[in-house]
Amino acid sequence: MDKLLIHGGTRLDGELRASGAKNSALKMLTASLLANEPVTISNVPHLRDITTMIEILGSLGVEVVVDEKMNIEIHANTIKSFTAGYDLVKTMRASFLVLGPMLAHYGQAIVSLPGGCAIGPRPIDQHLRGLQALGARIEMNEGYVHASVDGRLKGAHFSFDFCTVGGTEHVMMAATLAEGQTVLENCAREPEIVDLANCLNAMGADISGVGTGTIVINGVESMHGCTHRVIADRVEAATYLIAAATTGGRVKVKEAQQEHLEVVLTKLEEAGAEITVDDEGIELDMKGKRPKAVSLVTAPYPAFPTDLQAQIMVMNSIAEGTATVKETIFENRFMHVHEINRMGANIRLEGNNTIALVEGVAELNAAPVMANDLRASVSLVIAGLVAKGDTIVDRIYHIDRGYEQVEEKFRILGAHIERIHSR
Ligand code: UD1
Repeated sequence: MDKLLIHGGTRLDGELRASGAKNSALKMLTASLLANEPVTISNVPHLRDITTMIEILGSLGVEVVVDEKMNIEIHANTIKSFTAGYDLVKTMRASFLVLGPMLAHYGQAIVSLPGGCAIGPRPIDQHLRGLQALGARIEMNEGYVHASVDGRLKGAHFSFDFCTVGGTEHVMMAATLAEGQTVLENCAREPEIVDLANCLNAMGADISGVGTGTIVINGVESMHGCTHRVIADRVEAATYLIAAATTGGRVKVKEAQQEHLEVVLTKLEEAGAEITVDDEGIELDMKGKRPKAVSLVTAPYPAFPTDLQAQIMVMNSIAEGTATVKETIFENRFMHVHEINRMGANIRLEGNNTIALVEGVAELNAAPVMANDLRASVSLVIAGLVAKGDTIVDRIYHIDRGYEQVEEKFRILGAHIERIHSR
Protein backbone atom coordinates (compact mmCIF):
# COMPACT_ATOMS: atom_id res chain seq x y z
CA MET A 1 0.00 0.00 0.00
CA ASP A 2 1.34 3.44 -0.92
CA LYS A 3 2.24 5.92 1.79
CA LEU A 4 3.03 9.63 1.80
CA LEU A 5 6.21 10.92 3.40
CA ILE A 6 5.98 14.57 4.43
CA HIS A 7 8.80 16.69 5.69
CA GLY A 8 6.92 19.33 7.67
CA GLY A 9 7.56 22.94 8.42
CA THR A 10 7.21 24.59 5.00
CA ARG A 11 4.84 27.49 4.56
CA LEU A 12 2.73 26.71 1.48
CA ASP A 13 2.99 29.30 -1.28
CA GLY A 14 1.75 29.04 -4.85
CA GLU A 15 -1.12 28.56 -7.28
CA LEU A 16 -3.00 25.53 -8.51
CA ARG A 17 -6.19 24.66 -10.37
CA ALA A 18 -9.14 22.98 -8.68
CA SER A 19 -10.12 19.69 -10.29
CA GLY A 20 -13.67 18.89 -11.37
CA ALA A 21 -16.02 17.90 -8.54
CA LYS A 22 -15.92 14.17 -7.84
CA ASN A 23 -19.35 14.25 -6.21
CA SER A 24 -20.91 15.81 -9.33
CA ALA A 25 -19.11 13.67 -11.86
CA LEU A 26 -20.00 10.38 -10.16
CA LYS A 27 -23.71 11.14 -10.29
CA MET A 28 -23.55 12.33 -13.90
CA LEU A 29 -22.02 9.01 -14.88
CA THR A 30 -25.05 7.25 -13.36
CA ALA A 31 -27.43 9.84 -14.92
CA SER A 32 -26.14 8.89 -18.36
CA LEU A 33 -28.10 5.62 -17.95
CA LEU A 34 -31.28 7.68 -18.51
CA ALA A 35 -30.34 8.76 -22.03
CA ASN A 36 -30.93 7.10 -25.39
CA GLU A 37 -27.88 8.77 -26.90
CA PRO A 38 -24.23 9.23 -25.87
CA VAL A 39 -23.59 11.62 -22.98
CA THR A 40 -20.21 13.34 -22.69
CA ILE A 41 -18.97 14.60 -19.33
CA SER A 42 -15.88 16.83 -19.26
CA ASN A 43 -13.61 18.17 -16.51
CA VAL A 44 -13.90 14.78 -14.79
CA PRO A 45 -11.20 14.30 -12.14
CA HIS A 46 -8.82 11.37 -12.57
CA LEU A 47 -9.67 9.48 -9.38
CA ARG A 48 -10.09 5.97 -8.08
CA ASP A 49 -13.83 6.55 -7.39
CA ILE A 50 -14.39 7.61 -10.99
CA THR A 51 -12.61 4.49 -12.23
CA THR A 52 -14.84 2.40 -9.96
CA MET A 53 -17.97 3.99 -11.46
CA ILE A 54 -16.67 3.38 -14.99
CA GLU A 55 -16.09 -0.27 -14.02
CA ILE A 56 -19.66 -0.53 -12.73
CA LEU A 57 -21.04 0.87 -16.00
CA GLY A 58 -18.74 -1.54 -17.83
CA SER A 59 -20.10 -4.45 -15.77
CA LEU A 60 -23.59 -3.53 -17.06
CA GLY A 61 -22.26 -3.80 -20.59
CA VAL A 62 -22.33 -0.04 -21.13
CA GLU A 63 -19.68 1.30 -23.53
CA VAL A 64 -17.58 4.02 -21.97
CA VAL A 65 -14.91 5.94 -23.88
CA VAL A 66 -12.38 7.99 -21.93
CA ASP A 67 -9.99 10.31 -23.75
CA GLU A 68 -6.62 11.62 -22.55
CA LYS A 69 -8.25 14.76 -21.13
CA MET A 70 -10.71 12.71 -19.03
CA ASN A 71 -13.68 13.55 -21.21
CA ILE A 72 -15.95 10.57 -20.66
CA GLU A 73 -18.47 9.48 -23.27
CA ILE A 74 -21.12 7.01 -22.12
CA HIS A 75 -23.31 5.02 -24.53
CA ALA A 76 -26.04 3.81 -22.18
CA ASN A 77 -28.10 2.17 -24.90
CA THR A 78 -25.44 -0.54 -25.17
CA ILE A 79 -26.56 -1.84 -21.73
CA LYS A 80 -26.74 -5.63 -21.45
CA SER A 81 -27.27 -6.35 -17.77
CA PHE A 82 -29.35 -4.68 -15.07
CA THR A 83 -27.40 -6.07 -12.12
CA ALA A 84 -24.66 -4.15 -10.30
CA GLY A 85 -22.75 -6.63 -8.15
CA TYR A 86 -21.50 -6.54 -4.59
CA ASP A 87 -17.78 -6.53 -5.38
CA LEU A 88 -17.93 -3.12 -7.03
CA VAL A 89 -20.82 -1.51 -5.16
CA LYS A 90 -19.35 -2.30 -1.73
CA THR A 91 -16.27 -0.18 -2.47
CA MET A 92 -18.20 3.03 -3.05
CA ARG A 93 -21.57 4.12 -1.70
CA ALA A 94 -22.30 6.44 -4.66
CA SER A 95 -22.44 3.40 -6.96
CA PHE A 96 -25.85 2.56 -5.48
CA LEU A 97 -27.19 5.49 -7.52
CA VAL A 98 -27.15 3.42 -10.72
CA LEU A 99 -30.37 1.84 -9.44
CA GLY A 100 -32.80 4.74 -9.99
CA PRO A 101 -31.73 5.65 -13.54
CA MET A 102 -31.77 1.97 -14.66
CA LEU A 103 -35.18 1.47 -13.08
CA ALA A 104 -36.62 4.65 -14.64
CA HIS A 105 -35.25 3.87 -18.12
CA TYR A 106 -35.53 0.07 -18.32
CA GLY A 107 -38.11 -0.76 -15.65
CA GLN A 108 -35.74 -3.00 -13.69
CA ALA A 109 -32.57 -2.90 -11.65
CA ILE A 110 -30.81 -5.19 -9.19
CA VAL A 111 -28.12 -3.46 -7.15
CA SER A 112 -26.14 -4.68 -4.18
CA LEU A 113 -26.71 -2.84 -0.90
CA PRO A 114 -23.78 -0.49 -0.42
CA GLY A 115 -23.05 -1.97 3.01
CA GLY A 116 -21.36 -0.35 5.96
CA CYS A 117 -18.92 2.47 5.68
CA ALA A 118 -16.11 3.73 7.87
CA ILE A 119 -18.07 6.88 8.73
CA GLY A 120 -21.16 5.31 10.26
CA PRO A 121 -23.91 3.03 8.97
CA ARG A 122 -25.17 5.42 6.22
CA PRO A 123 -28.49 3.77 5.40
CA ILE A 124 -30.39 4.18 2.13
CA ASP A 125 -33.94 4.16 3.47
CA GLN A 126 -34.71 7.62 2.04
CA HIS A 127 -33.58 6.56 -1.45
CA LEU A 128 -35.86 3.54 -1.37
CA ARG A 129 -38.85 5.35 0.14
CA GLY A 130 -38.58 8.02 -2.58
CA LEU A 131 -38.41 5.45 -5.37
CA GLN A 132 -41.38 3.58 -3.86
CA ALA A 133 -43.36 6.84 -3.83
CA LEU A 134 -42.77 6.93 -7.60
CA GLY A 135 -44.34 3.47 -7.88
CA ALA A 136 -41.25 1.26 -7.75
CA ARG A 137 -41.58 -2.27 -6.36
CA ILE A 138 -38.65 -2.84 -4.04
CA GLU A 139 -37.60 -6.19 -2.62
CA MET A 140 -34.52 -7.20 -0.68
CA ASN A 141 -32.94 -10.50 -1.46
CA GLU A 142 -29.59 -11.77 -0.22
CA GLY A 143 -28.05 -8.34 0.15
CA TYR A 144 -29.43 -7.03 -3.15
CA VAL A 145 -32.14 -4.47 -3.81
CA HIS A 146 -34.46 -5.67 -6.58
CA ALA A 147 -36.39 -2.77 -8.07
CA SER A 148 -38.98 -2.99 -10.81
CA VAL A 149 -41.93 -1.16 -12.31
CA ASP A 150 -44.49 -2.02 -14.97
CA GLY A 151 -44.30 0.67 -17.62
CA ARG A 152 -43.06 4.05 -16.38
CA LEU A 153 -42.58 5.37 -12.86
CA LYS A 154 -45.39 7.74 -11.81
CA GLY A 155 -44.86 11.35 -10.67
CA ALA A 156 -45.63 11.88 -6.97
CA HIS A 157 -45.33 14.24 -4.02
CA PHE A 158 -42.57 13.08 -1.67
CA SER A 159 -40.93 14.67 1.35
CA PHE A 160 -37.55 13.48 2.66
CA ASP A 161 -37.43 12.94 6.44
CA PHE A 162 -34.14 14.89 6.52
CA CYS A 163 -31.62 16.34 4.08
CA THR A 164 -29.82 13.69 2.11
CA VAL A 165 -27.55 14.52 -0.80
CA GLY A 166 -27.56 11.07 -2.40
CA GLY A 167 -31.26 10.57 -1.69
CA THR A 168 -32.21 13.86 -3.33
CA GLU A 169 -30.07 13.11 -6.39
CA HIS A 170 -31.31 9.54 -6.69
CA VAL A 171 -35.03 10.28 -6.57
CA MET A 172 -34.62 13.40 -8.75
CA MET A 173 -32.88 11.33 -11.46
CA ALA A 174 -35.54 8.61 -11.37
CA ALA A 175 -38.36 11.18 -11.57
CA THR A 176 -37.04 12.69 -14.82
CA LEU A 177 -38.53 9.80 -16.84
CA ALA A 178 -41.66 9.35 -14.71
CA GLU A 179 -45.15 9.98 -16.04
CA GLY A 180 -46.38 13.37 -14.80
CA GLN A 181 -45.06 15.77 -12.19
CA THR A 182 -42.97 14.97 -9.11
CA VAL A 183 -42.57 17.42 -6.24
CA LEU A 184 -39.73 16.63 -3.82
CA GLU A 185 -39.68 18.43 -0.47
CA ASN A 186 -36.99 18.88 2.16
CA CYS A 187 -34.34 18.37 -0.52
CA ALA A 188 -30.61 18.86 0.01
CA ARG A 189 -29.23 21.98 -1.75
CA GLU A 190 -25.57 21.17 -2.40
CA PRO A 191 -23.99 22.76 -5.52
CA GLU A 192 -23.31 19.26 -6.88
CA ILE A 193 -27.08 18.61 -6.94
CA VAL A 194 -27.57 21.82 -8.95
CA ASP A 195 -24.78 20.73 -11.29
CA LEU A 196 -26.41 17.33 -11.75
CA ALA A 197 -29.79 18.94 -12.48
CA ASN A 198 -28.17 21.22 -15.08
CA CYS A 199 -26.70 18.14 -16.74
CA LEU A 200 -30.08 16.33 -16.63
CA ASN A 201 -31.84 19.38 -18.12
CA ALA A 202 -29.23 19.43 -20.90
CA MET A 203 -30.26 15.80 -21.54
CA GLY A 204 -33.87 16.93 -21.98
CA ALA A 205 -35.20 16.69 -18.41
CA ASP A 206 -37.51 19.38 -17.00
CA ILE A 207 -36.31 20.14 -13.47
CA SER A 208 -36.77 23.37 -11.53
CA GLY A 209 -36.21 24.52 -7.96
CA VAL A 210 -32.83 22.83 -7.45
CA GLY A 211 -30.75 24.61 -4.85
CA THR A 212 -33.92 25.18 -2.79
CA GLY A 213 -35.75 22.77 -0.50
CA THR A 214 -38.42 21.98 -3.13
CA ILE A 215 -37.58 20.44 -6.48
CA VAL A 216 -40.21 20.08 -9.19
CA ILE A 217 -39.67 17.56 -11.98
CA ASN A 218 -41.99 17.33 -14.97
CA GLY A 219 -41.41 13.85 -16.34
CA VAL A 220 -40.38 13.46 -19.98
CA GLU A 221 -40.77 10.41 -22.20
CA SER A 222 -37.15 10.09 -23.21
CA MET A 223 -33.80 11.77 -22.79
CA HIS A 224 -31.13 12.52 -25.37
CA GLY A 225 -27.37 13.01 -25.34
CA CYS A 226 -25.54 16.09 -24.14
CA THR A 227 -22.12 17.48 -23.30
CA HIS A 228 -21.67 18.83 -19.79
CA ARG A 229 -18.68 20.29 -17.94
CA VAL A 230 -18.44 19.43 -14.24
CA ILE A 231 -18.10 22.33 -11.74
CA ALA A 232 -14.92 22.82 -9.70
CA ASP A 233 -14.52 20.65 -6.62
CA ARG A 234 -15.30 22.95 -3.67
CA VAL A 235 -14.06 20.44 -1.11
CA GLU A 236 -10.74 19.94 -2.87
CA ALA A 237 -10.30 23.70 -3.35
CA ALA A 238 -11.06 24.43 0.30
CA THR A 239 -8.72 21.67 1.44
CA TYR A 240 -5.80 23.55 -0.16
CA LEU A 241 -7.01 26.87 1.27
CA ILE A 242 -7.19 25.35 4.76
CA ALA A 243 -3.75 23.76 4.30
CA ALA A 244 -2.32 27.18 3.41
CA ALA A 245 -4.01 28.76 6.43
CA THR A 246 -2.65 26.03 8.71
CA THR A 247 0.94 26.59 7.55
CA GLY A 248 0.68 30.40 7.67
CA GLY A 249 1.08 30.46 3.89
CA ARG A 250 -0.54 31.76 0.71
CA VAL A 251 -2.34 29.87 -2.01
CA LYS A 252 -4.47 30.73 -5.01
CA VAL A 253 -6.92 28.08 -6.16
CA LYS A 254 -7.97 28.78 -9.70
CA GLU A 255 -11.53 27.96 -10.75
CA ALA A 256 -12.65 27.71 -7.10
CA GLN A 257 -16.13 29.25 -6.79
CA GLN A 258 -16.72 31.71 -3.97
CA GLU A 259 -20.49 31.19 -3.97
CA HIS A 260 -20.00 27.49 -3.12
CA LEU A 261 -17.72 28.26 -0.18
CA GLU A 262 -19.26 31.27 1.60
CA VAL A 263 -19.36 29.81 5.12
CA VAL A 264 -15.93 28.22 4.80
CA LEU A 265 -14.33 31.48 3.63
CA THR A 266 -16.00 33.36 6.49
CA LYS A 267 -14.48 30.86 8.95
CA LEU A 268 -11.05 31.22 7.37
CA GLU A 269 -11.33 35.01 7.63
CA GLU A 270 -12.28 34.56 11.29
CA ALA A 271 -9.08 32.54 11.63
CA GLY A 272 -7.13 35.57 10.39
CA ALA A 273 -6.77 34.82 6.66
CA GLU A 274 -6.97 37.48 3.99
CA ILE A 275 -9.23 36.22 1.19
CA THR A 276 -9.26 37.72 -2.28
CA VAL A 277 -11.67 36.61 -4.97
CA ASP A 278 -11.30 37.44 -8.65
CA ASP A 279 -12.38 36.01 -12.01
CA GLU A 280 -9.65 33.37 -11.83
CA GLY A 281 -10.46 31.95 -8.41
CA ILE A 282 -9.85 32.37 -4.68
CA GLU A 283 -6.61 33.42 -2.98
CA LEU A 284 -5.89 32.99 0.73
CA ASP A 285 -2.98 34.71 2.47
CA MET A 286 -2.13 34.17 6.14
CA LYS A 287 0.92 36.45 5.89
CA GLY A 288 2.91 34.12 8.12
CA LYS A 289 0.51 34.41 11.04
CA ARG A 290 -0.62 31.58 13.28
CA PRO A 291 -4.36 30.98 12.75
CA LYS A 292 -6.93 31.76 15.44
CA ALA A 293 -9.15 28.87 16.54
CA VAL A 294 -12.65 28.86 15.01
CA SER A 295 -15.70 27.02 16.34
CA LEU A 296 -18.18 25.47 13.95
CA VAL A 297 -21.03 23.03 13.47
CA THR A 298 -21.26 20.87 10.36
CA ALA A 299 -24.70 20.79 8.71
CA PRO A 300 -26.23 20.42 5.22
CA TYR A 301 -25.34 23.07 2.60
CA PRO A 302 -25.11 26.04 2.80
CA ALA A 303 -23.72 25.45 6.33
CA PHE A 304 -20.17 24.25 7.04
CA PRO A 305 -19.59 20.96 5.15
CA THR A 306 -18.81 17.76 7.02
CA ASP A 307 -16.30 17.00 4.24
CA LEU A 308 -14.06 19.85 5.53
CA GLN A 309 -14.42 19.17 9.25
CA ALA A 310 -11.26 17.04 9.57
CA GLN A 311 -9.09 19.53 7.66
CA ILE A 312 -10.19 22.54 9.75
CA MET A 313 -9.74 20.47 12.91
CA VAL A 314 -6.03 20.28 12.09
CA MET A 315 -5.90 24.04 11.59
CA ASN A 316 -7.59 24.48 14.97
CA SER A 317 -5.18 22.05 16.61
CA ILE A 318 -2.24 24.44 16.06
CA ALA A 319 -4.28 27.66 16.35
CA GLU A 320 -4.26 30.32 19.02
CA GLY A 321 -7.14 29.72 21.43
CA THR A 322 -9.77 27.02 21.79
CA ALA A 323 -12.57 25.87 19.51
CA THR A 324 -15.59 23.59 19.59
CA VAL A 325 -16.29 21.51 16.50
CA LYS A 326 -19.65 19.77 16.34
CA GLU A 327 -20.41 17.07 13.75
CA THR A 328 -24.11 16.66 12.95
CA ILE A 329 -24.08 14.76 9.64
CA PHE A 330 -22.25 11.51 10.29
CA GLU A 331 -21.75 9.40 13.38
CA ASN A 332 -18.20 8.37 13.99
CA ARG A 333 -16.52 11.05 11.88
CA PHE A 334 -13.81 11.98 14.37
CA MET A 335 -11.40 9.14 13.70
CA HIS A 336 -8.65 11.57 12.73
CA VAL A 337 -8.75 13.09 16.23
CA HIS A 338 -6.83 10.23 17.85
CA GLU A 339 -4.19 10.40 15.13
CA ILE A 340 -3.76 14.19 15.40
CA ASN A 341 -3.51 13.82 19.19
CA ARG A 342 -0.69 11.31 18.64
CA MET A 343 1.10 14.17 16.87
CA GLY A 344 0.79 16.34 19.98
CA ALA A 345 -2.62 17.99 19.50
CA ASN A 346 -4.92 18.54 22.45
CA ILE A 347 -8.41 17.52 21.34
CA ARG A 348 -11.03 16.00 23.63
CA LEU A 349 -14.18 14.29 22.41
CA GLU A 350 -17.47 14.79 24.21
CA GLY A 351 -21.21 14.41 23.69
CA ASN A 352 -21.03 10.75 22.64
CA ASN A 353 -18.22 11.57 20.17
CA THR A 354 -20.13 14.31 18.35
CA ILE A 355 -18.27 17.32 19.79
CA ALA A 356 -14.54 17.97 19.70
CA LEU A 357 -13.01 20.49 22.10
CA VAL A 358 -9.78 21.69 20.56
CA GLU A 359 -7.17 23.51 22.56
CA GLY A 360 -4.60 24.94 20.17
CA VAL A 361 -0.98 23.89 20.77
CA ALA A 362 2.12 25.73 19.53
CA GLU A 363 3.31 22.88 17.33
CA LEU A 364 2.65 19.32 16.19
CA ASN A 365 5.31 16.63 15.98
CA ALA A 366 5.72 14.10 13.18
CA ALA A 367 4.44 10.55 13.70
CA PRO A 368 3.39 7.58 11.59
CA VAL A 369 -0.38 7.98 11.13
CA MET A 370 -3.25 6.57 9.11
CA ALA A 371 -6.98 7.03 8.67
CA ASN A 372 -9.92 5.11 7.33
CA ASP A 373 -11.67 7.70 5.26
CA LEU A 374 -10.92 10.18 2.53
CA ARG A 375 -11.19 13.51 4.35
CA ALA A 376 -9.60 12.22 7.56
CA SER A 377 -6.62 10.98 5.52
CA VAL A 378 -6.04 14.32 3.82
CA SER A 379 -6.30 16.08 7.18
CA LEU A 380 -3.34 14.00 8.34
CA VAL A 381 -1.37 15.23 5.33
CA ILE A 382 -2.09 18.81 6.46
CA ALA A 383 -0.98 17.85 9.98
CA GLY A 384 2.23 16.43 8.48
CA LEU A 385 2.84 19.67 6.56
CA VAL A 386 2.76 21.76 9.71
CA ALA A 387 4.46 19.25 12.04
CA LYS A 388 8.12 19.19 13.05
CA GLY A 389 9.91 16.27 11.40
CA ASP A 390 8.95 13.54 8.92
CA THR A 391 5.38 12.25 9.00
CA ILE A 392 4.34 9.08 7.20
CA VAL A 393 0.65 8.87 6.28
CA ASP A 394 -0.38 5.27 5.63
CA ARG A 395 -3.44 3.91 3.74
CA ILE A 396 -3.45 6.78 1.28
CA TYR A 397 -5.63 4.85 -1.13
CA HIS A 398 -8.41 6.76 0.64
CA ILE A 399 -6.86 10.04 -0.55
CA ASP A 400 -6.54 8.70 -4.09
CA ARG A 401 -10.31 8.13 -4.09
CA GLY A 402 -10.94 11.87 -3.92
CA TYR A 403 -7.82 14.01 -4.45
CA GLU A 404 -6.34 14.19 -7.92
CA GLN A 405 -2.52 14.17 -7.97
CA VAL A 406 -2.40 15.10 -4.32
CA GLU A 407 1.36 15.05 -3.86
CA GLU A 408 2.00 16.91 -7.15
CA LYS A 409 -0.47 19.61 -6.14
CA PHE A 410 1.06 20.05 -2.68
CA ARG A 411 4.54 20.10 -4.26
CA ILE A 412 3.46 22.95 -6.58
CA LEU A 413 2.77 24.85 -3.35
CA GLY A 414 6.29 24.14 -2.10
CA ALA A 415 5.54 21.20 0.20
CA HIS A 416 8.16 18.48 0.75
CA ILE A 417 6.03 15.45 0.11
CA GLU A 418 6.66 12.21 -1.70
CA ARG A 419 4.84 8.98 -2.38
CA ILE A 420 6.43 5.78 -1.17
CA HIS A 421 5.26 3.04 -3.48
CA SER A 422 4.89 -0.40 -2.02
CA ARG A 423 3.36 -3.54 -3.37
C1 UD1 B 1 -22.68 12.88 0.10
C2 UD1 B 1 -21.24 13.07 -0.33
C3 UD1 B 1 -20.33 13.05 0.89
C4 UD1 B 1 -20.81 14.05 1.94
C5 UD1 B 1 -22.30 13.85 2.26
C6 UD1 B 1 -22.86 14.91 3.19
C7 UD1 B 1 -21.15 12.03 -2.50
C8 UD1 B 1 -20.64 10.91 -3.33
N1 UD1 B 1 -20.86 11.98 -1.22
O1 UD1 B 1 -22.80 11.60 0.68
O2 UD1 B 1 -19.00 13.37 0.47
O3 UD1 B 1 -20.08 13.87 3.14
O4 UD1 B 1 -23.06 13.90 1.03
O5 UD1 B 1 -22.64 16.19 2.67
O6 UD1 B 1 -21.79 12.94 -3.00
N2 UD1 B 1 -28.94 8.93 5.50
C9 UD1 B 1 -29.92 8.07 5.96
N3 UD1 B 1 -30.73 7.48 5.04
C10 UD1 B 1 -30.62 7.70 3.69
C11 UD1 B 1 -29.63 8.58 3.23
C12 UD1 B 1 -28.80 9.19 4.16
O7 UD1 B 1 -30.05 7.84 7.16
O8 UD1 B 1 -31.39 7.12 2.91
C13 UD1 B 1 -28.06 9.62 6.48
C14 UD1 B 1 -26.61 9.24 6.32
O9 UD1 B 1 -26.32 8.08 7.07
C15 UD1 B 1 -25.92 10.46 6.86
C16 UD1 B 1 -26.85 11.61 6.45
O10 UD1 B 1 -28.10 11.00 6.20
O11 UD1 B 1 -25.82 10.40 8.25
C17 UD1 B 1 -26.40 12.40 5.24
O12 UD1 B 1 -26.14 11.51 4.19
P1 UD1 B 1 -26.21 11.95 2.64
O13 UD1 B 1 -26.46 13.41 2.58
O14 UD1 B 1 -27.16 11.05 1.95
O15 UD1 B 1 -24.72 11.68 2.17
P2 UD1 B 1 -24.22 10.91 0.88
O16 UD1 B 1 -25.09 11.26 -0.28
O17 UD1 B 1 -23.98 9.50 1.20
